[in-house]
Amino acid sequence: MFITFEGIEGCGKSTQAKLLCEALIDRGFSVVLTREPGGTPAAEELRSFLLKPRNEKFPPFAELSIYEAARAFHVENLIKPSLSEGAVVICDRFTDSTLAYQGYGRGIDLSLVEWLNREATGGLKPDLTVLIDLPVEKAFRRISDRRKDRMEQEDFEFHERVRQGFLRIAEKEPERFLIVDGRKTVEEIHEEVLKAVLRRLRAL
Ligand code: TMP
Repeated sequence: MFITFEGIEGCGKSTQAKLLCEALIDRGFSVVLTREPGGTPAAEELRSFLLKPRNEKFPPFAELSIYEAARAFHVENLIKPSLSEGAVVICDRFTDSTLAYQGYGRGIDLSLVEWLNREATGGLKPDLTVLIDLPVEKAFRRISDRRKDRMEQEDFEFHERVRQGFLRIAEKEPERFLIVDGRKTVEEIHEEVLKAVLRRLRAL
């Protein structure tokens, strides 16, 4: 089973991905917890390249291409082999982030992003995607004391487009998405997510 977590920065998805991983390991599942961009040595190098703040303009097409290149390394070397071995793979961000950030956020043609997503993944899709939805003001408050990476330095309007993008993507595929209210407590969200995951695992 392939599970992804999505949402804007500060929504709490990384905490939830970790909690879910621990809960499934406790129940005897073999679990691989990974993230995008990243997850393999080459993809982690591309992550540092992508997130480093720089003085030079970063053209949206260059950004899109590098996120997709990192994904291709990750899918080929970690995600597909782990799924073939029967592991539950939990990934902090995946293709929906590219649609939301590079498509809705940067304004790149959505069908181009979808096409590259398919090429980078060989058509692999998550069985379940947890979208943790949080108003941008709240998310900004949560990350205000962090040293911000290149993407986090983008303005409110950019992150609002990303948030609305995620909601539109989820609307189009209600059977794949679980939308959770990010204003709930960490424990409440974890319980909601675990319940949905166990229900799906039992149905396999
Ligand atoms: P993270 O720090 O939340 O793990 O994500 C790294 C940043 O990269 C975050 O700002 C979202 C962004 N991102 C994209 O813009 N496109 C993508 O395809 C992915 C996977 C992440």
